[in-house]
Amino acid sequence: MNVLVTGGCGFIGSHIVDRLIEQNHNVTIIDNLSTGTLDYLNSNAGFYKLDIRDSSISNIFKEKKFDVVFHKAAQIDAAKSIKDAYFDADVNIMGTINILENMKRFNVKKIVFPSSAAIYGNIENLPIKETSTTSPLSFYGLSKLAAENYIITYAKLFGLDYTILRYANVYGLRQGAKGECGVVKIFWDKLLKEQQPTIFGDGLQTRDFIYIEDVVSANIATLSKGSKSILNISTQVPVTINKLFNEMKSTFNSSLSVSYANERVGDIKESYLCNEKALHILNWRPKYSLLKGLQHMYSFS
Ligand SMILES: NC(=O)c1ccc[n+]([C@@H]2O[C@H](COP(=O)([O-])OP(=O)(O)OC[C@H]3O[C@@H](n4cnc5c(N)ncnc54)[C@H](O)[C@@H]3O)[C@@H](O)[C@H]2O)c1
Repeated sequence: MNVLVTGGCGFIGSHIVDRLIEQNHNVTIIDNLSTGTLDYLNSNAGFYKLDIRDSSISNIFKEKKFDVVFHKAAQIDAAKSIKDAYFDADVNIMGTINILENMKRFNVKKIVFPSSAAIYGNIENLPIKETSTTSPLSFYGLSKLAAENYIITYAKLFGLDYTILRYANVYGLRQGAKGECGVVKIFWDKLLKEQQPTIFGDGLQTRDFIYIEDVVSANIATLSKGSKSILNISTQVPVTINKLFNEMKSTFNSSLSVSYANERVGDIKESYLCNEKALHILNWRPKYSLLKGLQHMYSFS
């Protein structure tokens, strides 16, 4: 297939590009390298250093005749979105509309969109299902939710197909510290430098850590499945931050201890996502437990 990956020089996008190329797809990347890097660029992919908001992306759509767009480029920093709501909305909403307009104009059949647990906010009924209420606590969560709704409305109006994947906390090599799941990257770097990390609060807050290889498999499955679906991509296993640190310590065979600081205002106490719908619709299941994912990551670092 002819595939466009926006954000294909970033953490998740570059891993998807690598797998698509392994499977002999024709891959083109649009990335402005704002957080991505050429170090992650697969040399078998076509590459355009461009912003997704740029009107000249039309020339690429016209020439390449894409079948599918994996639209991974985004402003991903929730704290930054709170400081600069305009910039966040401009990239995540207007940038997505620019992609959708070009898909409509050049008859691209399907968009695969990475959404986030951030759209749910603080939900008490766990695990969080796709039908749960959405109540984002940041403009980032809000802009992801708005982009989802633009995609669904474009699908209704113009017959595009889509799969929306709502990721839990993704971790793996090539991840930046500023993204949604910075905690693994932050602890990882501390353990590498043998410096003591800090946990905010008592460490009993839970998250759902999904390994990049499982996220890539879910994305690949959308090439043939998941039509007009919204799916959580998660392990459905709540893990405390204390447990995360202990698993990382054992992976590094480290004796470092952790220090504790005051809980951060607005931090969600418990969060994990139900993945049954993705299991059923994509015929996908996560293969990596947290420890297995960390060990896999360690073996490649
Ligand atoms: N990492 C997670 O845990 C997580 C969880 C949920 C959703 N997501 C979503 O997955 C996607 C990828 O996230 P990531 O963690 O790989 O982030 P990342 O920052 O590593 O990758 C984003 C890529 O997009 C590029 N980019 C950013 N703005 C752009 C623009 N205006 N024009 C062109 N390129 C631009 C960056 O240079 C980078 O290469 C994002 O849409 C993010 O919202 C990530």
